Amino acid sequence: MTSAADLLDIATRIARESGELALQRRREGVTVAATKSAAADIVTAADREVEAFIRAELARERPGDGFFGEESGAEAGTSGITWVVDPIDGTVNYAYGIPAWAVSIAAVEGTAETASWTALAGVVFNPVTGELFCAARGGGAWLGDQRLSVSDVGEAGGLVATGFGYNPETHGPALAQLSRVMPIARDVRRIGAASLDLASVAAGRVDAYYERGTHPWDHAAGALLVEEAGGRVGGAPGGRPGNGMVIASGPDFFSRLEPLLDFER
Ligand code: IPD
Repeated sequence: MTSAADLLDIATRIARESGELALQRRREGVTVAATKSAAADIVTAADREVEAFIRAELARERPGDGFFGEESGAEAGTSGITWVVDPIDGTVNYAYGIPAWAVSIAAVEGTAETASWTALAGVVFNPVTGELFCAARGGGAWLGDQRLSVSDVGEAGGLVATGFGYNPETHGPALAQLSRVMPIARDVRRIGAASLDLASVAAGRVDAYYERGTHPWDHAAGALLVEEAGGRVGGAPGGRPGNGMVIASGPDFFSRLEPLLDFER
């Protein structure tokens, strides 16, 4: 039986190596390989190459595990562990040269089904800043040797991170939702990488994050970081984070934010 700490060691090594590869490709110049759900939803050649690297490394180290990646899809394993991977979260930032993108790797117990898995280990690595956020279940969330803890929100209100996704039809409702959140927000941040938004909640750099329309690979690792930093992560009321909604913050602010949001199950 492999421990969560062992899985975290593997995720950490592969995140560092794949992050260096992505950074190298960024220096050489970014090629947009295709668009996905919308014209703004791009995939670069580096997304594909980096995911292929991560997948090959995991297959070598952990041949019985399943895999679920943004660019190459899902494959069931036999061990009960599945790796959930976003090779470059924040691809638009990556393409524009904004230094807020990350490799996100999580090991979960269960299948590629957000509703049923338990995350065991997670790493979010920003190769530009060199910051590597990590957590193993039960072992706390860490940035280097600094143990992370979610913030307490003061009377100025919460610093709230969010995102708007790529589907233009959702933008109007998302802006209406944001206007409902503003009375409890001191300000808003749109960082452009869900995994870094969640890592920022864990580190107390923002007080909360919410977004509708994300995918499992965007939040698998980051959600564990928040939980291990003492925060709460949810989706539809009482439910798990999912495509309909992801909310993350310290427990008190969570209960103020959740009633202001719309949910899709
Ligand atoms: C996207 C980013 C973005 C969020 C989108 C995600 P990608 O991931 O995390 O911040 O708003 O919903 O899809 O496409 O850059 O891997």
